[in-house]
Amino acid sequence: MDQSVSRRTFMKTSAAAGVALQMAAVWAQEKGPRRLKVGLVGAGGRGKGAAGDCMEAAKSLGIELQVVAVADAVEERAKDAAKQFGVAPERCFWGFDAYRKVMETEADLVILATSPNFRPLHLEAAIDAGKNVFMEKPVAVDPPGIRRVIAAGEKAKTKGLSIVAGTQRRHQAGYLANQFLASQGAIGKIVGGSVSWCGGKLWYQARKPGESDALYMVRNWVSFTEMSGDHIVEQHVHNLDVANWYIGRPPVSAVGFGGRARRQTGNQFDFFSIDFDYDDNVHIHSMCRQVDKCYNAVREFFVGSEGSMWGAGKVTSTNNKQIAVPEYKVHGNPYVEEHVALLQSIVDGKPVNEAQAVAEATMAAIMGRIAAYTGDLVKWSDLMTKQDSALYGLTLKPSAEDFEKGEVVAPKDDVVAIPGEA
Ligand SMILES: NC(=O)c1ccc[n+]([C@@H]2O[C@H](COP(=O)([O-])OP(=O)(O)OC[C@H]3O[C@@H](n4cnc5c(N)ncnc54)[C@H](O)[C@@H]3O)[C@@H](O)[C@H]2O)c1
Repeated sequence: MDQSVSRRTFMKTSAAAGVALQMAAVWAQEKGPRRLKVGLVGAGGRGKGAAGDCMEAAKSLGIELQVVAVADAVEERAKDAAKQFGVAPERCFWGFDAYRKVMETEADLVILATSPNFRPLHLEAAIDAGKNVFMEKPVAVDPPGIRRVIAAGEKAKTKGLSIVAGTQRRHQAGYLANQFLASQGAIGKIVGGSVSWCGGKLWYQARKPGESDALYMVRNWVSFTEMSGDHIVEQHVHNLDVANWYIGRPPVSAVGFGGRARRQTGNQFDFFSIDFDYDDNVHIHSMCRQVDKCYNAVREFFVGSEGSMWGAGKVTSTNNKQIAVPEYKVHGNPYVEEHVALLQSIVDGKPVNEAQAVAEATMAAIMGRIAAYTGDLVKWSDLMTKQDSALYGLTLKPSAEDFEKGEVVAPKDDVVAIPGEA
C-alpha cells in the first residue's frame, strides 16, 4: 500500500468486496487518531440522539468522529441539527430527496432515523453508496419493505459494509447474558412466553393551516400506520425481537385482535393482543397498548421445559446446569453500545450485519398487525415467500417513493381497519 494514497482514494479505488478489511489495513499503517465521518438522515429526537451516542462511542474508542452532513424532510429541523453538530451550511439538506445528497458526501457511515416507512429506500441508497449504516428500528411497514431490507443487508455483506440496528436489547448486558443462558439450555427448551409493550399514548400535533398532507403525516408519523407500521411495529418490535432472538427463529403465523378505544386521530389501533406460533408447539402471547392511565408493562417472560426467565431478569432453572456466562464488557448504555459495535467493526475491518434480525423482528410485528386488522390467521410464508399470496405484495400507500414524487394523499383521520372486513 502506497502511504501517499489517502484512505479516501484507496476506498474509492478498491474492489467492493472486502472494503472494510482494506480500510482497517490502511488504518493499521496510518499514524495518529482514526477518523470517521458521519451523515445523519432524519434529524428528529432519535436521529440527533443517535448522532450523540455515536460521538460518545467514538470517544470511548479513541476515534475522531465528525458529523459532515445532515438531511431532514423539514428545513428547520435540518438546520437545527446542522447547528448542533457544526455541519457546514452547504452540507445541510432538506426535502424528501435530501437523503440522496448525504449519500453523495464522503461520510463513512450514515445514521438512518426517519420514520420507519422510509427505511428500505434509505438503506438501499446507503448500501449502494458504500456507506456503513446505523438504522433505527423498525425497518419497514409492509412485507415488500422487509424483503428490500433483507436484500440490502445481503448486498452490504458483499461490499464489506456494516449494518447495526437500534434494537438496543441485543447490545444490553442483561439481555446478552440471559440469551446466552437460554441458548445453553439453562431453562431447557423454550416452550412459551409472553411479551408486552403497554404504555401511554404518544404525541399528536394538530394540522397547521395550509399544511401539505406530506408534512402533516411526517409530523404525526406515530399516528399513521403507513408511516409507523402502527405501535405494534413501532414500539413492540423490541419485545418481539427478544422473542425471535431467544427462541432462535421467527414465528410461522399470528392470530389475534386489536382495536381503538381512545384515539380520534390517525388510523392506528390503541391495543393489540396476538398469539404468535413459533412452530414446534411454541407459542408466545404478545400484547401492546397505547392508552393513558393504565398499568404499564414493557417486558418479556419465557417458560422453558426446565425453568423460566425474564428477558433480562431472574432466571429460574430446575436442571442445575453450570453455565459460565461470558463477561459482556459493555458501556452500560445500550444506545451507545450499538455504536461501539458499529465503529469497532469498521476500524477492525470485521463487518457486523444486523439487517436480517431486525427485519425479521419487524416482519413479526407486521404479521401481528395484519392479523389484528383483518381478523385472519396470517402466515409468515404468505408475507415472505409465497408470491401468489395477496399479502406478499401488500404495499402501504402513500409509500416512501410517493413522498419523494410529491404524490401524497393522507389517509382520513379516524377511519380504521375493521376486522372481518379489512
Ligand atoms: N431505539 C429506540 O429506543 C428508539 C427511540 C425513539 C425512536 N426510535 C425510532 O427512531 C425513528 C425516529 O423517531 P423519532 O422519535 O426521532 O421521530 P421524530 O419525528 O422526532 O424524527 C423523525 C425525523 O425524520 C424526519 N423525516 C421524516 N421523513 C424524512 C425523509 N423522508 N427524509 C429525511 N427526513 C425525514 C422528520 O422531519 C423528523 O425530523 C423511528 O423509527 C423510531 O421508531 C427508536
